[in-house]
Amino acid sequence: PIPVAPSAGVMSEWEELAVQVAGCKACSLHRSRTQTVFGVGDQAAKWLIVGEAPGAEEDRQGEPFVGRAGQLLNAMLEAVGLQRGQVYIANILKCRPPNNRDPLPEEVAHCESYLRRQIALLRPRIILAVGRVAGQNLLKSSLPLGRLRGSVHQYPETAIPLVVTYHPAYLLRAPREKRRAWQDLRLALKVYR
Ligand code: URA
Repeated sequence: PIPVAPSAGVMSEWEELAVQVAGCKACSLHRSRTQTVFGVGDQAAKWLIVGEAPGAEEDRQGEPFVGRAGQLLNAMLEAVGLQRGQVYIANILKCRPPNNRDPLPEEVAHCESYLRRQIALLRPRIILAVGRVAGQNLLKSSLPLGRLRGSVHQYPETAIPLVVTYHPAYLLRAPREKRRAWQDLRLALKVYR
């Protein structure tokens, strides 16, 4: 008989999840996407950054935050001493909504178990939600971003601290708010350095 290594052919739970996401057709976004965008970064990361959904460039490259907003996100992380490769980056939605419109509630409902599973496997020490869509959906809240930022929340049903800040795409349009984003990052750093 041909010897087979005990682990041959066995996928990790993470890999299984990635395969499941890559083939997902649970909502209509699968028809317009180029590919799904699972996430990127260190699976042992202490920091999890959660954005809204892939944009055009992310849909093309299959990686979150690779466009202009991504460059600002990288700079924000570097400002607090974190390299992009040291954190994990994912989105509320794995597929790009047409013309970057806001995610629909049914799209979030179909997609959120994937992120929940990623969080359970990554077990980050802190979650940074960037933008209103990420903050509201992770916290199951309808409060505006201005009310969600500025305090430390918990990702529901866990003890994982969660801080909400502005989306870098918003900061590109409103650079004056960078000062407040910096406060949010410092708050997150205080919780987990
Ligand atoms: N905006 C997001 O929220 N996520 C991305 O991946 C890119 C842009």
